[in-house]
Amino acid sequence: MVLPIVAYGSPILKKEAEEIDENYEGLDQLIADMFETMYEASGVGLAAPQVDRSIRLFIVDASPFAEVEEGEEPDPMAKGLENFKKVFINPIIEDESGEEWAFAEGCLSIPKIREEVMRKPNIKITYYDAAWNFYEEEYEGYAARIIQHEYDHIEGILFTDHLSPLKRRILKKKLTNISKGEVDAPYRMKFPNLQKKR
Ligand code: NI
Repeated sequence: MVLPIVAYGSPILKKEAEEIDENYEGLDQLIADMFETMYEASGVGLAAPQVDRSIRLFIVDASPFAEVEEGEEPDPMAKGLENFKKVFINPIIEDESGEEWAFAEGCLSIPKIREEVMRKPNIKITYYDAAWNFYEEEYEGYAARIIQHEYDHIEGILFTDHLSPLKRRILKKKLTNISKGEVDAPYRMKFPNLQKKR
């Protein structure tokens, strides 16, 4: 089932999410619904708070990023994306390293806005998958970037929180409009400050 995506301005997006355990009810269905929702919205990552669940869970599928056009050099930042479809439960980013790099990020909760965010290129993360197997892995480039963005969601952080005060001021009106539902997103959303049409 496709779930509505919670829009910018919703308190749940600013909240630190809770860990879950194996008894969390309906987890398999929730994960299936999250993948359906993410694909429907053409996203590469989706965190549980974005579908109104304040739990430490996010999913990614960035395999489209791995495609190399004929005659084109493979993008070194796209390393490891071929099978980058994963479920992260109770993840902990243990370490981030390397020199910060800029990448224009977007977010399904903040439609039609993309801004450059600086992040470190290498991460070490521990997490459980949907079958509760435990992993300790390292990621780099776009894979690390997507994980860092989704991980922020379960910490109550949005990519706009990483922008300069000036950039944020410039975006303020657009962000307010998004929270009121005054944005044309090509997928179903839930707006915190929806204004009744007169
Ligand atoms: Ni996001």
